Amino acid sequence: MPQHYLGIDIGTTAIKALVVDESGSVAGEAESPQELSVPQSGWSEQNPSDWWRGTVDAVRAACAQADVTEVAAIGLSGQMHSSVLLDEADNVLRPAILWNDVRTTAQCRYITDKVGNKGLRRMVGNPALEGFTAPKLLWVRDQEPVVFDQLRTLLLPKDYIRLLMTGDKAMEPSDAAGTLLFDVVNSRWSEEMVKTLELDPLILPTVVGSSSVSGRLSAEAAEVLDLRSGIPVVGGGADNAAASVGSGVVAEGTLQTSIGTSGAVVAPIGQPRVDPGMRIHSFNHAVPDMWYLMGVVLSAGAALGWFRRVLLGTDSVGLSYEELISEADEVPPGTEGLTFLPYLTGERTPHADSNARGVFVGLHSGHERGHLVRAVLEGVTFALRDSFELMRDLGVDATEAVAVGGGARSAIWRQMQADVLGVPVVTVGPSGGAPYGAAILAAVGAGDFETVNEACQAWIRPLDRIAPRAGVADAYGEAYERYRRLYPRLQDYFAEFTG
Ligand code: XUL
Repeated sequence: MPQHYLGIDIGTTAIKALVVDESGSVAGEAESPQELSVPQSGWSEQNPSDWWRGTVDAVRAACAQADVTEVAAIGLSGQMHSSVLLDEADNVLRPAILWNDVRTTAQCRYITDKVGNKGLRRMVGNPALEGFTAPKLLWVRDQEPVVFDQLRTLLLPKDYIRLLMTGDKAMEPSDAAGTLLFDVVNSRWSEEMVKTLELDPLILPTVVGSSSVSGRLSAEAAEVLDLRSGIPVVGGGADNAAASVGSGVVAEGTLQTSIGTSGAVVAPIGQPRVDPGMRIHSFNHAVPDMWYLMGVVLSAGAALGWFRRVLLGTDSVGLSYEELISEADEVPPGTEGLTFLPYLTGERTPHADSNARGVFVGLHSGHERGHLVRAVLEGVTFALRDSFELMRDLGVDATEAVAVGGGARSAIWRQMQADVLGVPVVTVGPSGGAPYGAAILAAVGAGDFETVNEACQAWIRPLDRIAPRAGVADAYGEAYERYRRLYPRLQDYFAEFTG
């Protein structure tokens, strides 16, 4: 019987399950879409029980497609930072507050005032940003004290699914790093930060290695998932870290750009390094003794999704992303003077500004729909370049970028990434996403590879490579300059009118 591994990603728009065989080929794959609840402007929540239902559906469908009832190990990945709060009996206390929720500005200010940027750099290697987990805990303490009093366990999305699968409460370094309670440099909970914020250290789960076995599938979960009980479940990884594993971006000198709901630029580093200005995140990788620098664009694919849904009206919903993007391809680079800032839900990198908002600037009566679409694509790509530029300032020297996420499916958008970032953009197979990375971590945990790097080398291969075109460098250079100069001019406006 050939061996199989299961990778599961708890994503914001969908739960994805992937069955991978021992040669690294995808044998089965399924998705279960997830709803997002926005109870107030700037809020973003999901019910953890929906993730579990989605996991059950996706796993059963992927295993049925692969025609397997037996996998050697399971790996989990998931959206980072989103808070799952459990009571004494492990019941979920309130909907999870997600990574793209920006209600916690006051709590971020409180943390920064209390420990200072110097303290943040030393204790956790990252600034207090609305999306991170600790500010969410403080918000619940401030606003929902009755809920907070019952809090006994803090988990992240994939770790809640682990609890339901195995009964174990565990996290691994790449996800713990995004809580703002984890000492990224020393890979352990920051007692100092926990104490300073007057949190109970007992709410924090055990930290296990990303490819170490954290527990085994319980008989109860096995029955629901239609799998054998006792299957090992490995630590897994935060979605961006797991996606980097899935695309083989696990060593210095490599770079990953991802365009999913959010966008991210990930550069692995062999030593922990914190940006003195903390404009770029420093997190633990899902590979032992590796870290990565990351810039995050809060609305990347989400910006194009928003544009298609809202601006084009219900009649146009039938237009596929491919059709929309080919309209944009009719318009020259630089979009004839039109600029779009994709800050629909505020922005993380480089502005760390939850008041920032989306804008089109430079519209004229000659612009058609394709111009608007192109401006959205360029805006998101320029936002990725902002992160890449900060990394270059910190000495990151990448000679190519591996593109992943839904946005990487479009060759037109990949060409734009190559032209704007100035490096060749490659895609890799068989899959290149977070669930594939989770499956790799599972294969390592099952003992079928010695190291993550070995598994990546055995399974991952380049598919296609797009080089930057010299002929469009000036047009993009000029448009990026326009883009870069726009936010500083609007920053005060955002603070005054959208805060
Ligand atoms: C990373 C981040 C997002 C989520 C998306 O810091 O907030 O990329 O991980 O799932």
